Amino acid sequence: MKTIEIDIQHALYFAGKEKYDALRPEAVKAMENLTENKGAGSDFQGWVKLPSETPQSLLDDIKATAASLQQKCDYVVCVGIGGSYLGAKAVIEALSDSFLPFIPAPKFPKVLFAGQNIGEDYLSELTAFLKDKKFGIIVISKSGTTTEPAIAFRILKEQLEAQAGKQAAKDLIVAITDEHKGALRTLATQEGYKTFIIADNVGGRFSVLTPVGLLPIAVAGFDIDKLIAGARFMEEKTRLESPENPSEVYAMMRNALYRAGKKTEILVNYNPKLHFFGEWWKQLYGESEGKDNKGIFPAAVDLTTDLHSMGQWIQEGERTIFETVISVETSNCELRIPVDPANLDGINYLAGKRVDEVNKMAELGTRIAHNEGGVPVMRITIPQLCEHTLGELIYFFEKACGISGYLLGVNPFNQPGVEAYKRNMFALLGKPGYEAETQAIQSKL
Ligand code: PA5
Repeated sequence: MKTIEIDIQHALYFAGKEKYDALRPEAVKAMENLTENKGAGSDFQGWVKLPSETPQSLLDDIKATAASLQQKCDYVVCVGIGGSYLGAKAVIEALSDSFLPFIPAPKFPKVLFAGQNIGEDYLSELTAFLKDKKFGIIVISKSGTTTEPAIAFRILKEQLEAQAGKQAAKDLIVAITDEHKGALRTLATQEGYKTFIIADNVGGRFSVLTPVGLLPIAVAGFDIDKLIAGARFMEEKTRLESPENPSEVYAMMRNALYRAGKKTEILVNYNPKLHFFGEWWKQLYGESEGKDNKGIFPAAVDLTTDLHSMGQWIQEGERTIFETVISVETSNCELRIPVDPANLDGINYLAGKRVDEVNKMAELGTRIAHNEGGVPVMRITIPQLCEHTLGELIYFFEKACGISGYLLGVNPFNQPGVEAYKRNMFALLGKPGYEAETQAIQSKL
């Protein structure tokens, strides 16, 4: 079977093969931590065996719940933020028709998102749009106490109950949260919502292959069995410590580059459908590694689009960056460039070629140019965009992230820094229990 492949030859010489090889003992230790459930943050390593340990009964329950929402709704609003949002968004965007929002009667409900910001305009426009529409809600919060989704859910729940009736609304809401604790668990129990559990040992940014990602993806009409099959395939491929293990290769290469002074990694795609995959990846690596005053800064660009805005910086800016290109080998559609007898635009030399052939040459030309401009370039090739390869890619990056965090010397599974803004926001908003913080912050204003 064709699978994802990683090529590091155009990055290796920037760090030096000896420096790369010198990381091997640390990689062996990192793999041991993940395999034997040891090391910093070991109580959050539940994602390591998640694909192989996901029972078919859970997948069937998710599919049945998705089918029920599909039958009752034209729109399903997915409420969540961070790890409770980005995985589903990334997969749905990667697999959906780019013009889905404008397709009048699609086969499956359109999945909309809320609670991923506190935009008053966004929420007002969403509620105005949903007026008189048949909609349902999937509310996702591992902690069950996050402010952004709590605000969005309160507003949308009220609207749904007003439009569908309080009793009917209960069947149109699914909650995904902690098994026992948190406000969302309490509310779901009180109201009798259908619920799914996020296991204690799986952190938000590692939760896309749990109901958190799987339910919205299934509602959007995609095959979660294939997604999990892809992840299982990659779990097996990266299970054993080996110089050929692709997740180890990626983790070692990026850390060798970091130690050689390359502090920023740019994830590059040449397919606009992967834009949100880059957003998911940024959270995965940013939250896992940016701590203790360390960490590669994760950035992402969509090429060739951003070559016309960020291309100059990448080619000639400060030489502290490296890039990782995700290259999709085969497009799902075929479109050829027509001949134009007038040839005013001068592109008749491309006539008859597939658009993707041009894209591939743009990619190759850019990789060579960036390399020659002093940018180490890694390349991850995936055969095509489908559920199976996305499952592979998700697990590949998760496994590499765990290894990479240990190579960096941090706990890759906590996120203590995320609380700082919340404390200030609660203090400024006068949340009960934050009186001392309110006084302290007001004295700084
Ligand atoms: O990765 C994380 O832990 C965070 O980004 C969370 O995913 C995010 O804050 C949402 O948290 P919750 O699912 O508890 O609402």
